[in-house]
Amino acid sequence: MLIKKVEFAGAIGNTTQSPPGDLPQIAFSGRSNVGKSSLINTVLNRTRTNIARVSATPGKTREINFFRVDGAASTEEAIAFFLVDLPGYGYAKVPQAVKQQWQRLIEWYLRNTNELKGVVQLIDVRHEPNEADRAMIKYLFETQLPALFVLTKVDKLTRTARSAQVRSVVRGLGVDPDQIIEFSAVTGEGKEELLETLEGILCESDTQ
Ligand code: GTP
Ligand code: MG
Repeated sequence: MLIKKVEFAGAIGNTTQSPPGDLPQIAFSGRSNVGKSSLINTVLNRTRTNIARVSATPGKTREINFFRVDGAASTEEAIAFFLVDLPGYGYAKVPQAVKQQWQRLIEWYLRNTNELKGVVQLIDVRHEPNEADRAMIKYLFETQLPALFVLTKVDKLTRTARSAQVRSVVRGLGVDPDQIIEFSAVTGEGKEELLETLEGILCESDTQ
């Protein structure tokens, strides 16, 4: 998929609000500081003028943010969708009550959005999925949405450490290795593979 145009389309901060329109949606989920905003900027070619805010202090994305993306499939067919940036969960310094509120918002969104075609779940390649990740992943499997797992920040590991770590995270997640993409916002590795996979999800759901 070729990205042609990206614009911020709106945000929702509580369960009384609705998405900004009627397009198919793909949501990005992950623990706070996993590199979600960096990945979104890389995938949308917005590394010079960021569209998703990259934070020095984690836990900054508190709302569900919608970006309208216009692109073209490899067949040159036009594609339009909302890329949805979910709040990063599990940040230790956020009060428990706020965490629960975010979790409720995320679960409500995942459960009630008919236009949601798939979820991209991010995991930092250096860390085994923690309890918050496991809860999220279990929830994702329950919704039966197409899920894709992206291992972020792979540039931070040496080649040997990286392949061992990838194997271990894949085992820990209990997912098919085909569902995994290794990614770095620093080198751009994984970007094309992710775009191709997103195109597959969007174009497949077109024909149903
Ligand atoms: P919150 O929105 O705060 O939950 O964080 P986030 O998941 O959006 O992460 P963000 O993209 O803001 O990145 C967090 C930190 O990790 C920043 O310091 C980034 O520069 C760094 N980072 C993100 N992706 C990569 C990567 O692929 N490689 C390296 N080396 N650093 C990265
Ligand atoms: Mg962010």
